[in-house]
Amino acid sequence: LSGFLKETINNNILTAQAKKIRIAGEIPSDLPELEIDERRINQVLDNFITNAIKFSSEDTKIIVKAEIIDDMVKISVIDQGQGIPDEEQVKLFSEFGKTSVRPTGGEKSTGLGLAIVKKIVAAHGGEVGVKSKVGKGSTFYFTLPL
Ligand SMILES: Nc1ncnc2c1ncn2[C@@H]1O[C@H](COP(=O)(O)OP(=O)(O)OP(=O)(O)O)[C@@H](O)[C@H]1O
Ligand SMILES: [Mg+2]
Repeated sequence: LSGFLKETINNNILTAQAKKIRIAGEIPSDLPELEIDERRINQVLDNFITNAIKFSSEDTKIIVKAEIIDDMVKISVIDQGQGIPDEEQVKLFSEFGKTSVRPTGGEKSTGLGLAIVKKIVAAHGGEVGVKSKVGKGSTFYFTLPL
């Protein structure tokens, strides 16, 4: 899991750099092995990271954190972007669930990424969630059972 997560982070560094955004990984090197659909979980983390880049402005930082909590691993992507208004957060993981928060660099936004993410994580027996505050940033996370 450790190497896999670090690789997904590395694949996004250049896109982030183009917007002067720094990505830091807080990934313990001793995470256990997990039986997952690697391509699909990569898609999950990649959507979280590309969203963080897409909806943040220049000179901000993104942290990708992995931690073991009880019998699961929790993977969080923490940004210093625009944040999402409370009343709009309910539609986040639904199809075409775009919010009033728009991309900062003219990137394309379909509103499908998070709906797919939710299905992939559920199929792995995990959960998705978000914590967000307007003007402060957002934390999107998912869990996977160990
Ligand atoms: N990190 C974030 N900060 C602020 N808003 C976000 C963030 N991630 C998602 N959103 C909001 O949630 C909406 C849904 O995200 P989702 O990933 O499903 O779609 P998208 O990124 O717009 O398009 P797609 O992923 O299909 O290319 C976004 O349009 C945006 O309004
Ligand atoms: Mg997306």
